[in-house]
Amino acid sequence: MFTPISAILKGGTGKVVVRGWVSNKRSSGGIQFLELRDGTGFIQATVKKEKVGDELFRELDLMSVESVVEIEGEAKEDRRAQSGYEIGIDTIKILHKAAEGFPIQKKDHGPEYLMDQRHFYLRDRRMFLITKIRAKILELIRDWFKKNEFTEVHVPIIVGAAVEGGSTLFQLDYFGAPAYLTQSWQFYGEAYINSVGKCYTLAPSFRAEKSRTRRHLTEYWHLEAEMPFCNVDGLMKTEESLIEYVCQGLAKQMPVELKELGRDPADLAKVRAPLPRLRYEEAIEILKKDGVKIEQGDDIGADEEKVLTQHYDVPVFLTHFPDAIKPFYHKPDPANKKYVLGVDMLSPEGYGEVIGSGERITDYDELLGRIKEKGLKPEDYQWYVDMRKWGSVPHAGFGLGIERLVMWTCKLDHVRDAIAFPRFINRNTP
Ligand code: 4AD
Ligand code: MG
Repeated sequence: MFTPISAILKGGTGKVVVRGWVSNKRSSGGIQFLELRDGTGFIQATVKKEKVGDELFRELDLMSVESVVEIEGEAKEDRRAQSGYEIGIDTIKILHKAAEGFPIQKKDHGPEYLMDQRHFYLRDRRMFLITKIRAKILELIRDWFKKNEFTEVHVPIIVGAAVEGGSTLFQLDYFGAPAYLTQSWQFYGEAYINSVGKCYTLAPSFRAEKSRTRRHLTEYWHLEAEMPFCNVDGLMKTEESLIEYVCQGLAKQMPVELKELGRDPADLAKVRAPLPRLRYEEAIEILKKDGVKIEQGDDIGADEEKVLTQHYDVPVFLTHFPDAIKPFYHKPDPANKKYVLGVDMLSPEGYGEVIGSGERITDYDELLGRIKEKGLKPEDYQWYVDMRKWGSVPHAGFGLGIERLVMWTCKLDHVRDAIAFPRFINRNTP
């Protein structure tokens, strides 16, 4: 039986057997310090020449990093070790001798090099921490959906028409006819609410983003939810409850990992419903005061969100967007039809949009009219429009970019490290 390193780091001292990769090593006289990694954590282990004998000691001295070993020894607290614990090795077996020249060295490599070496860079402690936090975020999300009685559903990724407009569509050849990689699950979510009620999905979405930015991937993980009998207020309450749950959970369960990445868990512990709400019109006025060249009616893009969200230390809802800058499916505000009941949630500190959402149009003729107004082909959306004929109820939903959430919660300055193998305009390997 092997002891997970994580169990030792939680105070499980005493006799242990550990199996793992040697991520780093150094020696000093008759003692070698191995940094071991087993997928649950990192720990320092020391080998003394007198314990293992000259021959094995020499072999260990020559051994390259990323070799794999099995050790038996005594785990104890040690203030000097980075993790606070250390294993004194009694016996050691080399299970795999790594080649020399592991591509990731203890020096500063450029970001492009690290992207080329992604399959190895994943082993780095930073990527390990981010990946564990990402997994925790997904665990908390699923937990919240379960508590709130949503059903998880899955739908196709290959689709016949755009959801979010044509400019970011990936086209593929579907047996001689065009088809697309989906930008959003939304229309299928709207179909499913009439069957299972509140539902959600977690799936890749695709955007042919033609420029490289710090926050746009061409393939990303999209958490989407749809709710029947829900208006825009219910929608915001749902989103803030979910975000609060995730942030509170992270602050409580991952404080050590967050701190190491430079994120103070107290920043996330502050995130509590209700979150601030800001109308689009007010946001434009704030931006103007900040010296941003922008007018009422203009789109609020990444640069503007960066300025706007500096004013906040918790996520903020942006509401009541002009109809012209949002997709056709958003319900116009009954109080003023110039605006739609679309809602974006922006992360604080300059991070910007993490959720896109809104209340949907329920009336058949209104929806068809909007499709035509936006210059889209009604035949592409006939099945979607038809759903307004049978069992149409007020409904709303949202889409959350998992990498955007990871980026903000882990305080990353680029989206590339929020996902294992990022996809950009100029990259689809490794
Ligand atoms: O705002 P978007 O485009 O909204 C939709 O797709 C809706 N149909 C969702 C819905 O209501 N079911 O995308 C939703 C979220 C964004 O807020 C952002 O977090 C993320 O998806 N996102 C991206 N993340 C990474 N890279 C990209 N290129 C992204 N584009 C959108
Ligand atoms: Mg959006």
